Amino acid sequence: MKLWAGRFAKEADKTTNDFNSSIAVDSRMFREDIRGSVAHAAMLGRQGIISPEDCTAILDGLGGILSDMEGGALRVDPDAEDIHSFVEAELTRRVGEAGKRLHTGRSRNDQVATDIRLYLRGRCAGLRGQIEALITALEAKREEYPGAVMPGYTHLQRAQPILFAEHLLAYQEMLRRDIGRLDDAARRMNVSPLGSGALAGTGYPIDRAFTAGELGFDGYSASTLDGVSDRDFCLELAAALSILMVHLSRLSEELILWCSWEFRFIELDDAFSTGSSIMPQKKNPDLAELIRGKSGRVFGDLMALLTVMKGLPLAYNKDMQEDKEAIFDAFDTVGMCLSAAIPMLSTMRALPENMRKAAAGGFINATDCADYLVGKGLAFRDAYRAVGALVARCLKEEKILETLPLAEYREICPLFEEDVYSFVSLEACVNRRSKRGE
Ligand code: ARG
Repeated sequence: MKLWAGRFAKEADKTTNDFNSSIAVDSRMFREDIRGSVAHAAMLGRQGIISPEDCTAILDGLGGILSDMEGGALRVDPDAEDIHSFVEAELTRRVGEAGKRLHTGRSRNDQVATDIRLYLRGRCAGLRGQIEALITALEAKREEYPGAVMPGYTHLQRAQPILFAEHLLAYQEMLRRDIGRLDDAARRMNVSPLGSGALAGTGYPIDRAFTAGELGFDGYSASTLDGVSDRDFCLELAAALSILMVHLSRLSEELILWCSWEFRFIELDDAFSTGSSIMPQKKNPDLAELIRGKSGRVFGDLMALLTVMKGLPLAYNKDMQEDKEAIFDAFDTVGMCLSAAIPMLSTMRALPENMRKAAAGGFINATDCADYLVGKGLAFRDAYRAVGALVARCLKEEKILETLPLAEYREICPLFEEDVYSFVSLEACVNRRSKRGE
């Protein structure tokens, strides 16, 4: 029987039930739903809104449902409307009359808003741990290859020599900001909507501070309408997750490039690579490619949430049931991507000789060569032009700055002396600027 059976002369059509049901998506919040109900029932008992006997029966019943669901003895009914009605119906089946008093002074609107916040709070904590693990994996790689010199790029053209460790530090910084964004959003989310009722609060003498405290919230919503209709936290979290996916996708893109034969800067472990069904020589970076690809899903989840919310009048509208599928998918996808990224990165081998070889070509020390002339008193713009002419000459003669004879240097600018060779060596270039980020 439906929660609202009294008002209706007919049973709902099966299409209505199937279309309306969210149990397949929201049953994963059963712990949070029960936890919210426990706090609510305890509050009703303390306030004398329900009798101590009913309160005890409800709390015992909810405890039994929780352990039976966790142990697998109780399975969710796939035909139930949602997790909230399932738990309430099961409670009433178990404890009778008292179960029917649980929903006093509460609506599914404040109930679901409470459940999602509790659930996502847990997911944020889990994800935070995974991001930290990825930062640690990057740190281990930095320590494994402290002196590896590689070309730094702009426009994917060799620009200036850098340390591989510096390149990885950039990703650590992005990930640290990702944690900051998640923490910010989680903090703003940690406000209890419970007690908002359907939208206008309730006439019962409830204690919102008590339920908020029981559930670990920092406070409760000042506006009951906002309490039930706010999904900003889903938007914020999806935005934070989307930005995180941008970072994971960029890192993946670099790993994909670096393990290609064209670069050969790294080698992914066999256990985290895949082969081809036809080309026996292939070793493919499928995990990295999937992370790059799955970023699209998470951006899509953010778009779905923004679009669901943008036209809704206050307060609750059923459209908002769509929030969970999108935000859960975003968390699931990001969690999976991090689970793949961490071991893929930890087991990856760098090939510093190849990095160095790439850094030794491409006139990556040209800026330093100009700086050398600046050190001899030339204005930077003039030094820049002189080195440009040197590079053009080298290109024509298929030489590099490290081996161009001094006489040819001096033909272009007489300020060049023997010490130019040590000044433009890769190590000197990197060491000169190694203060960055250290
Ligand atoms: N399954 C619903 C949701 O996720 C629960 C809230 C239903 N409220 C209502 N007034 N129909 O949004």
